[in-house]
Amino acid sequence: MPDSSQQAFDFIIRGGMVVTSRCTRVMDVGIREGKIQALEFHLSAPANQEIDATGRLVFPGFIDAHTHMGIPIKTTSSADDFSSGSMAAAFGGVTTIVDFTVQATGQSLMDSLEERLSRANGKSYVDFHIHVNITDQPERWLPQIPEIIRRGFRSFKTFSTYREAGMMVTWSQFRTIMEAVSAAGGLVMLHAEENTLVEAATHKHLEAGQLEPIYHARSRPASAEARAIEQAARIAEELQAPLYIVHLSSADGLKVALTAKQRGVRLFIETCPQYLLLDESAYQEKNGHYFITTPPLRTRLDQQALWQAISNNQVDVVGTDHCPFTRAQKEMGNRKFHLTPNGLPGVETLFPLLYTYGVRTGRITLQQLVHLLGINPARIFGLDHRKGDIGVGLDADLVIWNPEETTWITGKHQHGRADWSPYEGMAIAGKLEWVFLRGKVLIHQDQFMASTPEGHLIPARSATP
Ligand code: URP
Ligand code: ZN
Ligand code: ZN
Repeated sequence: MPDSSQQAFDFIIRGGMVVTSRCTRVMDVGIREGKIQALEFHLSAPANQEIDATGRLVFPGFIDAHTHMGIPIKTTSSADDFSSGSMAAAFGGVTTIVDFTVQATGQSLMDSLEERLSRANGKSYVDFHIHVNITDQPERWLPQIPEIIRRGFRSFKTFSTYREAGMMVTWSQFRTIMEAVSAAGGLVMLHAEENTLVEAATHKHLEAGQLEPIYHARSRPASAEARAIEQAARIAEELQAPLYIVHLSSADGLKVALTAKQRGVRLFIETCPQYLLLDESAYQEKNGHYFITTPPLRTRLDQQALWQAISNNQVDVVGTDHCPFTRAQKEMGNRKFHLTPNGLPGVETLFPLLYTYGVRTGRITLQQLVHLLGINPARIFGLDHRKGDIGVGLDADLVIWNPEETTWITGKHQHGRADWSPYEGMAIAGKLEWVFLRGKVLIHQDQFMASTPEGHLIPARSATP
């Protein structure tokens, strides 16, 4: 009987430049039974299949900690479901997505979770986890939180805006939610925009008949983001509770968040590629209404501040807020800012953009990239016993990237349902060659190799972030 070190691997990925959260070095990766079983300079055991990764970068499968598959927005629903959206994810090297429940009026948190799980189970091609939205009658459903956390879901998202959609919680409710969630060992996430400021600005522009896309940005100023972060951070500080700010978009918001961190608030910052690479001038272009997303695109100065914070390790996570609409859906509001469904596609371009415009421009290192798209979201959301890095015992979720090629983003070649891309024509410094999910090949070159959706729910481990 051979000892386990000599047992055949299912795969050996040989000679690639392996990028982990700790280092980048040439190594062989041995995969058996869905796990990374060995990581060494040279593996001598046999393998059923060997892949020559010489000259390639080998990354951990990435995590997109912020997606919205098939959610109601305005008069329509975001175009991807778990099937199309997870396929798009795979083609971007994202092997775990974290989506959000949608709590209907009168629906319990547990029922909303069951409903979202039923949409993902058997439909997702990549692994998934779920954040629990609290938008309706928080006080009524807070007693369910400990049980939800015991089941492996410990991140709860709140909104300080979207009153018109019935999703907003007041600051007093926010505090009550944070008390309950943190007492049970969970984490509160916040879509931070102070609604009074948003409603006042929106009202002003609607009254003046200013309905062009740029007024989406004017209606949701950076000051609203900063004000909401300030408010939430004060509550988190007082309660000594962790707080996760989703899709932080502005220099003003960033400043407040970093000041709170310096005061010792356990505050996690997420930003998105659209705030790093696009700016509000997009609203003035021919199809400016396509770019309506919330928070809105900001200025070049905001972009610079966010990149600087990323370089300084002050941002924890880059997620996408993937919430795509087709071109036809984007026309539904007749180009009026307040009627256009808000959201952008992003899950497929997350890693290629961050690699090209982050790593290859010298703004971040490969290790920082793996932190932002891997180990940090895995740790914050309790998935790090399985995901987010390359290490013995972790799931064999791997991405093999050829950094010598140049490719270009084109909406019509993307794999989700949006028939356009906000990043149309942008160059990408590399090409995806292989994607593995738990030791199985999901993608080889441009071929999708999975015949059935075999994404698993990954419950969070129990300890707090
Ligand atoms: O406009 C966006 N981003 N739609 C998705 C919902 C949200 O606010 O994250
Ligand atoms: Zn949001
Ligand atoms: Zn979102």
